[in-house]
Amino acid sequence: MDACEGLEWDSLRPRCAAGRQGSVCRDVPRILGASRGAVLMKVPFVDLKAQAESLGATYGSLLESIVSRAAYTMGPELKKFEEEFAAYSGCAYAIGVSTGTDALKLAYLAAGVGPGDEVIVPVNTFIATAEAVSHIGARPVFVDCLAETANIDPNLIESAITGRTKAIAPVHLYGQPADMDATLAIAQRHNIPVIEDACQAHGAEHRGRRAGSMGLAAAFSFYPGKNLGALGDGGAVVTNDGDIATRIRLLRNHGQEDKYTHRVVGYCDRLHNLQAAFLSAKLAHLDAWNVSRRTAANRYDAMLADVPGVQTLRVIDDVVHVHHLYVILVDDRDRVREALACAEIETGIHYPVPLHLTPAYASLGYSVGDFPVAESLAERTISLPMHPHLSSAQIEYVVEQLAEAVS
Ligand SMILES: Cc1ncc(COP(=O)(O)O)c(C=O)c1O
Repeated sequence: MDACEGLEWDSLRPRCAAGRQGSVCRDVPRILGASRGAVLMKVPFVDLKAQAESLGATYGSLLESIVSRAAYTMGPELKKFEEEFAAYSGCAYAIGVSTGTDALKLAYLAAGVGPGDEVIVPVNTFIATAEAVSHIGARPVFVDCLAETANIDPNLIESAITGRTKAIAPVHLYGQPADMDATLAIAQRHNIPVIEDACQAHGAEHRGRRAGSMGLAAAFSFYPGKNLGALGDGGAVVTNDGDIATRIRLLRNHGQEDKYTHRVVGYCDRLHNLQAAFLSAKLAHLDAWNVSRRTAANRYDAMLADVPGVQTLRVIDDVVHVHHLYVILVDDRDRVREALACAEIETGIHYPVPLHLTPAYASLGYSVGDFPVAESLAERTISLPMHPHLSSAQIEYVVEQLAEAVS
């Protein structure tokens, strides 16, 4: 028997998703609709199918063209996309690579990070920011975040610097640039390169400068759900430094300068030509999609301002936030998520475990209490549905259901 059946309205939503992690109780729409005349609306967390509907024909012709030429690796589409994405990011160079994680790895390597070195990383981020440090034998050193933005707290960076620190890697989390003025000033004082993790921030700006153009180099991810996503995995490193660009071009393709001339021991980290072609087609829509995300975020902000029990994050002055995710804070988070799941609203948590407490990093020796802000956020965050195709009606419905859940 379904866990929802036979329950009264008031007790139904908190209980119906209990023990069903992320799944929606299929009987809830029928039960709620019948008992209350309520109109239930399915609200997906992201909607990649809507994008595919408008661009499907373009994808088909790009596929046909590439297959007819068998232009699968290092082709003209890759070169074209690299030029377009460099210009879009306000950088002289973009080098397409296989994933955002590899983009970080190659950027750290090109900046001179190696075994035994340290890289300063926010503790509140996706694991890849730190993982790429570990992949090259270096050690991530975590720094807590700001409660009001969830981005790295620049006031804590300096005390984390040691004689082994070889890079600082701020993340433009959820699509909002980190405080780059403060971060770059510290980096400059200590002569340490900054590698931006811009994997969630395609098109974001900090005081007139595009995310990705402020540090020595930056990493982007084109994972399908990103603001600019491939039809599979992809990534890019962007930089204004010609030597860094040359090193990354070598490293991503077996260290090859020319065929079988291997200057360094490299990797097989190329961006597929086909993905580059899809990304070029999608890049033309990115600004419009980012505007739609911003409109949705502004609507959420305005409506949630009147909802007691829901805290929204702050957008800092003079930035362009591209709202990869729309994150709020509530008490009793898991119960609230369950209630939303029962109302057919998909949500996420970014991130449920701060990196210092994730089992993969137990060996670093951190413990509970080391990063109190990130630990508190991890217990209270919910990411609401956010994508360029979110309708006003869907936003109103999410806010209505959320207000009821927290009341
Ligand atoms: C902040 C951040 N860094 C790095 C990555 C890694 O990107 P990819 O999944 O393309 O390797 C992601 C992807 O989710 C991310 O969100």
